[in-house]
Amino acid sequence: MKHKAIIFSSFSLLPLIFSPCFSFASSDVLLRGSSLSVEKHDSDTLSSPDKTFTCGFYGLGGNAYWFSIWFANSSDRTVIWTANRDKPANGRGSKVTLRGTGALAVTDADGSVVWEAHTTSTDACSLELLNSGNLVLRGPHRRKLWQSFHHPTDTLLPTQLLTKKNKLVSYLKGGEFHSGYFNLYFDHDNVLRLMYDGPDISSLYWPNPHFNVSTNGRTNDNSSRVAVLDETGHFQSSDRFQFNASDRGLRIKRRLTLDHDGNLRLYSLDDQSGLWIVTWQALPAQCIVHGICGRNGICVHTPEPRCTCPPGYEMQEPSDWHEGCKPKFNFTCSKPRDVEFLALPNTDYYGFNAVKNNNASFNFCRQTCLDSCSCLGFIYVESQRWCWTKSSLFNGYQVPSFPGTLHLKLPISIVASLEPIHNGSAPECSAARDQLLVDTSYGTIGKRVRWAYLYGFASAFGAVEILIFFSGWWILFRKRDVHCIVEDGYAAITSQFRRFNYDELKRATRNFKVEIGRGASGLVYKGVLADRRVVAVKRLGDVYHEEEVFWAEVRTIGKINHMNLMRTWGFCCEGKHKLLVYEYVENRSLDKHLFCGDVIEWRERFRIALGTAKGLAYLHHECLEWVIHCDVKPENILLDKTFEPKIADFGLAKLLQRDGANTQFSCVRGTKGYLAPEWALNLPITVKVDVYSYGVTVLEIVRGIRLSNWVMEKAGNEEQEAELTVFIREMKRRYQCGEDWGIEDLVDERLKGQYSRKQAGVLLEIGVTCLEEDRNKRPTMDSIVNQLLEVDDEP
Ligand SMILES: *[C@@H]1O[C@H](CO)[C@@H](O)[C@H](O)[C@H]1NC(C)=O
Ligand SMILES: *[C@@H]1O[C@H](CO)[C@@H](O)[C@H](O)[C@H]1NC(C)=O
Ligand SMILES: *[C@@H]1O[C@H](CO)[C@@H](O)[C@H](O)[C@H]1NC(C)=O
Ligand SMILES: *[C@@H]1O[C@H](CO)[C@@H](O)[C@H](O)[C@H]1NC(C)=O
Ligand SMILES: *[C@@H]1O[C@H](CO)[C@@H](O)[C@H](O)[C@H]1NC(C)=O
Ligand SMILES: *[C@@H]1O[C@H](CO)[C@@H](O)[C@H](O)[C@H]1NC(C)=O
Ligand SMILES: *[C@@H]1O[C@H](CO)[C@@H](O)[C@H](O)[C@H]1NC(C)=O
Repeated sequence: MKHKAIIFSSFSLLPLIFSPCFSFASSDVLLRGSSLSVEKHDSDTLSSPDKTFTCGFYGLGGNAYWFSIWFANSSDRTVIWTANRDKPANGRGSKVTLRGTGALAVTDADGSVVWEAHTTSTDACSLELLNSGNLVLRGPHRRKLWQSFHHPTDTLLPTQLLTKKNKLVSYLKGGEFHSGYFNLYFDHDNVLRLMYDGPDISSLYWPNPHFNVSTNGRTNDNSSRVAVLDETGHFQSSDRFQFNASDRGLRIKRRLTLDHDGNLRLYSLDDQSGLWIVTWQALPAQCIVHGICGRNGICVHTPEPRCTCPPGYEMQEPSDWHEGCKPKFNFTCSKPRDVEFLALPNTDYYGFNAVKNNNASFNFCRQTCLDSCSCLGFIYVESQRWCWTKSSLFNGYQVPSFPGTLHLKLPISIVASLEPIHNGSAPECSAARDQLLVDTSYGTIGKRVRWAYLYGFASAFGAVEILIFFSGWWILFRKRDVHCIVEDGYAAITSQFRRFNYDELKRATRNFKVEIGRGASGLVYKGVLADRRVVAVKRLGDVYHEEEVFWAEVRTIGKINHMNLMRTWGFCCEGKHKLLVYEYVENRSLDKHLFCGDVIEWRERFRIALGTAKGLAYLHHECLEWVIHCDVKPENILLDKTFEPKIADFGLAKLLQRDGANTQFSCVRGTKGYLAPEWALNLPITVKVDVYSYGVTVLEIVRGIRLSNWVMEKAGNEEQEAELTVFIREMKRRYQCGEDWGIEDLVDERLKGQYSRKQAGVLLEIGVTCLEEDRNKRPTMDSIVNQLLEVDDEP
């Protein structure tokens, strides 16, 4: 099928020269109307004029084929580009065709298009492979309509530009072409970075996330965002990053590849053996790469890097470390006496620090972790009295120079059944033992250099990490740093959540079509992610004030984890686009159920009151840094399909130091009608403002009507009092005089008498005491939860 172009040595065929599709090609060219077929994948190929590169169908042994470009002379025919990496074509009947219409397409056996070169032009004449390894679709007058250099997969060749419009994405694992989780790309702050972008979290790991841009030797001043490897082996990026191949010089075949283990390596081809030699790599120690061992997994150098599971955990998926490890026990909120801590020296999990303390005793640190259900363990650095607790275990690594010890929280029964741990040795994991993480056959240069490097680097790494842990959140909130590009805070956030693209979210929400709510800080839309997860996407405006709100919200949700608080999946921060991605809660907000339309049953009402109280109690008392929500109201209480409440919208939330230092608010936060009197009186703000708002909400739950219409309109000289105030005064009078509440008059009449008198009485009492003017007389959320649990008749 393939047509070889004729080499024209003379101009005897003048008419052809004037045809727009005339080609001066001196080697294989695919002309318009012709194709390469998969059955003849050995011979139906295009070669570059110097025979370095070949292009055609590439099989990996099975019936799957990829339209690829590879090095003809490397021993394993190394692939440097793949068109249809995530959609292999069938081994029979598949074709690459330069169609009569001028489009280049890979079609499967059934004629369906699995890949197409996107060009606006329809007048392509020929396809040819250049000596540089660039596959070019040419139009009339040899114009380049499309080129593979603009669409790299995991490899950059000399002279190929890495720009703001493209990125390298690693393979998922060795020996296949599917897209993996590691990315090399220019970030929004103009810095060239490596990121682990996994299904659960995304995390930046190169350049060193513990340092700022300038300490890493980069700059974010140059917005051209372009990097290139030249033919001598010198790499130069517009953020001032550069390196030289260890064998710098001309006439050596090289490739810069983002390997499936997350490391970026420069390779040179040894012409004699056809093997690749590593002449530079981005990360000296493999365990610095984030995400390689999955959730809960720990990367250990033994000295080859490998993944293990901590004691009490086992591999989730025996063949795949990306899935990480799962606990062999059910982590319920166990009583302290059922829990034991197991010490793993020199071990850390990067990110997800729920609590940090830089002058804590071991026992204090231990107790803090015991007190919190969400704490999975803590790191303690004896020599410095440094303590931080972990709410999730990601990016685990063990290096001898890390000065801290991980104390892993485990059920006592598990700890008793474990073999004694040998001092300083790697954590055991039977299944993991033989699993070699990285391909170590890269050649001889890489290896020795790698390990010598590791230990020196790691000691700096450990020490610096600790400094940043204690300053990270603070840096995040300083005013001048309130930008998407704040590196330290940004790194802290990106290590907690998945980062989404704006385009991805735009697609998920079908261009922000279905609005499902309005928060204090933005509109909320329903969306469906590519993995079919239904989500709520909150879109914040672009004014400066809201930028602060964004970080406040992200900073707060990074610390919380409770079933009655809305779960966050991730965020997007691209220029002026700031979005948060939450779990989608089916039943909309409480106000919709209370004040309009449907009536909700008593059982549900009580459960909502209790769940909301539990969520607030967690915020007020359980997190070590207390959180004041500041905007508790029915609109911010979302209901899932079983009517379990989830408190949403932390855009106005405020973190408090536990030492009780009073917080100054620059302006009143919250919603009229739910605001405690302290706001108006300019008194210090405490968690009791939430207790007040909770009181209003509880009374509304019982009454089934809006009490919070805080109308203080002056009509002449007469002050028209709010319904709430009148109602409360009357309630208090009855309460204080020990009169009968008259519960029948107070409970929502739409319930038609179907409710528990005992529970209604307790809710009314709580409502009234929460609305005390003197905040010291208001109960705490903890005591409210206990009061409600006493009358809770559900098992
Ligand atoms: C590739 O290898 C063949 C023989 O194995 C050799 O003849 C040819 O010169 C090599 N090509 C290049 C570009 O090195
Ligand atoms: C980066 O960190 C270094 C050392 O910690 C500090 O001197 C420098 O001011 C920082 N630069 C910026 C832009 O924050
Ligand atoms: C920005 O980077 C590009 C590419 O490295 C370089 O050509 C250009 O001179 C740089 N601009 C400035 C202002 O440094
Ligand atoms: C790479 O080599 C060039 C030329 O010898 C030199 O100017 C440059 O500083 C080197 N870069 C690095 C990172 O060593
Ligand atoms: C954990 O709980 C699930 C269901 O609640 C049960 O099937 C499983 O056996 C439990 N696992 C252990 C180790 O107790
Ligand atoms: C650390 O705490 C101890 C006891 O609480 C105290 O005596 C000591 O001064 C503190 N050290 C620092 C550096 O704050
Ligand atoms: C572990 O080390 C500690 C102190 O370094 C020592 O007291 C203990 O006996 C050691 N345990 C084992 C099993 O070697």
